[in-house]
Amino acid sequence: TARAAPARNSLAAWEALRDEAAHCTRCHLYQHATQTVFGEGPVDAPLMLVGEQPGDQEDLAGRPFVGPAGQLLDRALAEAGIDRGTAYLTNAVKHFKFEPRGKRRIHSKPDAGEITACRWWIEQELLLVRPQVVVALGATAARSLLGRTVTIARERGHAIALPEGGEARITVHPSFLLRIPEEDRKAKEYARFVEDLRAAAARL
Ligand code: URA
Repeated sequence: TARAAPARNSLAAWEALRDEAAHCTRCHLYQHATQTVFGEGPVDAPLMLVGEQPGDQEDLAGRPFVGPAGQLLDRALAEAGIDRGTAYLTNAVKHFKFEPRGKRRIHSKPDAGEITACRWWIEQELLLVRPQVVVALGATAARSLLGRTVTIARERGHAIALPEGGEARITVHPSFLLRIPEEDRKAKEYARFVEDLRAAAARL
């Protein structure tokens, strides 16, 4: 549906958007998730970070990046000299997608249709916040932002202009770092991740 872009940096417009997203049925994921996990942070943040989708803990809390991946992200942001409270954090897909396994809920990757359906929300967030720099955490976020498949290894470290304005920079997802079993490789990849965040902040 075509409609006017939300007012730039307006808290009231952001609240209206968040309240509307709480009732989103643009794809089927709302049926099993606890709630929509909308973005959070200052509505005039110069830096936006985009993840994939809420995980188990985010789904329950209703806030992005509060689980294990969020804790790793917090540590990396601090090391990169970025105050989390100054950034706007959101996800490409705003409902948790999972497979039940006993009492546990195992994260499953959003597909292209779900990413496209949810693209409307991130577009509204971009138009409202108008960040200078948007960091895509992982391939799903990059795909949502750029509207095409993205190979992180190839496009990492580049600045890519966004249709909504500002530039996107691509790095890995913190969950990828959590899954690396070898300690030395994990440390190396983590350091690279911190460097990517630092490079993004240097563009502000
Ligand atoms: N992983 C994400 O991509 N986003 C979150 O909010 C939490 C974990």
